Amino acid sequence: LFENVVYHNSVTSTQTVAQQLANEGVGEGTVVVADEQTGGKGRLGRVWDSEKGAGVWMSLILKPQIDFRKAPQLTLLTAVAVTRAIESVSGLPLSIKWPNDLLVNGKKLCGILTEMQADPDRVQSVIIGIGLNVNHGGFPDDLSEIATSMNIEAGKPFNRAEVIAAILNEFSWLYRTYLSQGFSLIKPLWEAHAVSIGKKIVARSTAGTTEGYALGIDDEGVLLLQDNQGETHRIYSADIEFK
Ligand code: BTN
Repeated sequence: LFENVVYHNSVTSTQTVAQQLANEGVGEGTVVVADEQTGGKGRLGRVWDSEKGAGVWMSLILKPQIDFRKAPQLTLLTAVAVTRAIESVSGLPLSIKWPNDLLVNGKKLCGILTEMQADPDRVQSVIIGIGLNVNHGGFPDDLSEIATSMNIEAGKPFNRAEVIAAILNEFSWLYRTYLSQGFSLIKPLWEAHAVSIGKKIVARSTAGTTEGYALGIDDEGVLLLQDNQGETHRIYSADIEFK
């Protein structure tokens, strides 16, 4: 699937580069990789620290023929692909915090940012950004409590090209399976690594704050949260915190 890799030394954000390429008609399966991002983007308008040579900073261009409401499933699929790839390369035990943070020992190792362009019913392009901390030896004080790297956790550095190849490999078969058979085969793989389910959580988003019990995800990848009154909410996008 990913035969076309566009490599940059330094870019503002691989997301922006990938989005431009997609708009110019570049097809599905192109990957944009950079050594460094000077304006890396995180979810919810945050900044993503993208130190030169320390991580995997890449964006995948996809053009799936799916309804735009299904795009969140691709985020979950990506979380599964990266989890499996890292486990096979490093043996580190990963867990997925809904929707898309990958944690080791409770600290964030990888973030995923999905950006979509769509008509009212059909998706035109989905750009999936993967930010994976690989060889950082440490983090500044404000981040060291919440962020980690493969190097810090495994006690040894990793070859980034190998990590990228492993991710693309896992992603390719999961994506093919998804396109031919739907989300039902991906969902249990996601659930097997999920730490958010069956816990008391708080979900914060622009729509408000909901506290309750995470029941699971539905077939669209939406989080089902039961509040303290017993009412179930469908959470499409939020930041969650364990209680
Ligand atoms: C998050 O907030 O957890 C998502 C972080 C996503 C970071 C990646 S790094 C490659 C791609 N380019 C960006 O500017 N962001 C994503």
